[in-house]
Amino acid sequence: MSIALCIFAQNMENKTFYIETYGCQMNVNDSEVVAAILKAADYRLTERINEADIIFINTCSIRENAEQRVWGRLDVFRLEKRRNPSLLVGVLGCMAERLKEDLLGKGVVDMVVGPDAYRQLPLLVAEAEVGQKGINVLLSREETYADISPVRLDKNGVSAFVSIMRGCNNMCAYCVVPYTRGAERSRPPETILREVRELFDKGYREVTLLGQNVNSYSWTEASATMNFAQLLEQVALVNPLLRLRFATSHPKDMSDELLHTMAKQPNICRHIHLPVQSGSSRILELMNRKYTREHYLERIAKIKAVLPDSAISTDIIAGFCTETLEDHNYTLSLMKEAGFDQAFMFQYSERPNTKTARHFKDDVPAEEKTRRLNEIIALQNKLSLQANQKEIGQQREVLVEGLSKRSSEQLFGRTSQNKVIVFPKKNYRSGDYVQVQIERCSSATLFGLPLD
Ligand code: 5AD
Ligand code: SF4
Repeated sequence: MSIALCIFAQNMENKTFYIETYGCQMNVNDSEVVAAILKAADYRLTERINEADIIFINTCSIRENAEQRVWGRLDVFRLEKRRNPSLLVGVLGCMAERLKEDLLGKGVVDMVVGPDAYRQLPLLVAEAEVGQKGINVLLSREETYADISPVRLDKNGVSAFVSIMRGCNNMCAYCVVPYTRGAERSRPPETILREVRELFDKGYREVTLLGQNVNSYSWTEASATMNFAQLLEQVALVNPLLRLRFATSHPKDMSDELLHTMAKQPNICRHIHLPVQSGSSRILELMNRKYTREHYLERIAKIKAVLPDSAISTDIIAGFCTETLEDHNYTLSLMKEAGFDQAFMFQYSERPNTKTARHFKDDVPAEEKTRRLNEIIALQNKLSLQANQKEIGQQREVLVEGLSKRSSEQLFGRTSQNKVIVFPKKNYRSGDYVQVQIERCSSATLFGLPLD
């Protein structure tokens, strides 16, 4: 950007902006990057939508209902604009990338900015302030926002997200992400380590390393390459009191080296999120997932052998194109065999221009998709309860995140296995590590008593 443009982009009146975020953890972290960019241009962040001069909505396109929710919010902002005609609205993220100028035609949107164009925001806002609608949806092969220290929008000051790579090369047939977030690129390790050290010094005690495909992280400099396991080890060495998590892993990149690194470093949490999507090898092939049911189950067996105290969670799609009852039953049986601790479960939603939208018919009737999804959810509830029941009587180290929503006398935190646990407050505070004896559970929560 030229110096002239920088001056043009400076906000003289200290206008305020508000960001609403939908979608994944990457989007939450992207909103923090956006906040940092705008604050550096002297815009003021507000948590109150009604005092904002500019509203940003950071959007998700993963399923049709994610987009519907955003359209609903844009209708509300349209009414808001009638009350306050100088209000500006910017659409960020995956829907901005997917729908591009179509969004500008809706009368409410002033700016459309894709995930790789956030550095241009001060300029686009300045142009919108003088009545010029703006769009930048260029995807980049390099942008990782490596030098930007995100403004933490979380409330607890204990756990933070750090993006280590962006984009996705996997081309799962159903997925919009390669189109909305572009090709994979990794962030330089020293910038990741610097950000993590700063977070620890500010009092953060848990960092989640993020990427659409986090375990395919790869950084090459001169002739040396750093892979995800090596990066994770470096980050784990920052401080033994800092817990590490990572998401999302692809089964094809879930290497033995990574499992052994986890086993070696106790501050890498005993939890792996490993989306399976389907238990049928035929469907996995149509999905272009690049592994079979057998390979996935072999990886689960390996995780359990190397990390016996690790929890495993997954993502499952019900009712993918051509899915038969037999395929669906393979999914149910795989869930039982893996014994997932937790799952995020969805009905297949056709996304425009993806490989499946172009080549296959969305042929499982809506009510059958719902029936299969409900069956998957019911089974997972049972599996989650069984997994939690096994925790009863165990002593676990819990990182306190804050007051329980139900009672100000209780705190909540997580075990290394990513299970939410509620226990009496005593004199503990957010950021403390507490040894808790687990007494009882539901399928979603553990309840316990501190041991000292
Ligand atoms: N329909 C339904 N679920 C989807 N996901 C991704 N694309 C779709 C789609 N078109 C799910 C996958 C992925 C999670 C983030 O969202 O399970 O792992
Ligand atoms: Fe939604 Fe995927 Fe984009 Fe995240 S990357 S916001 S989940 S479409």
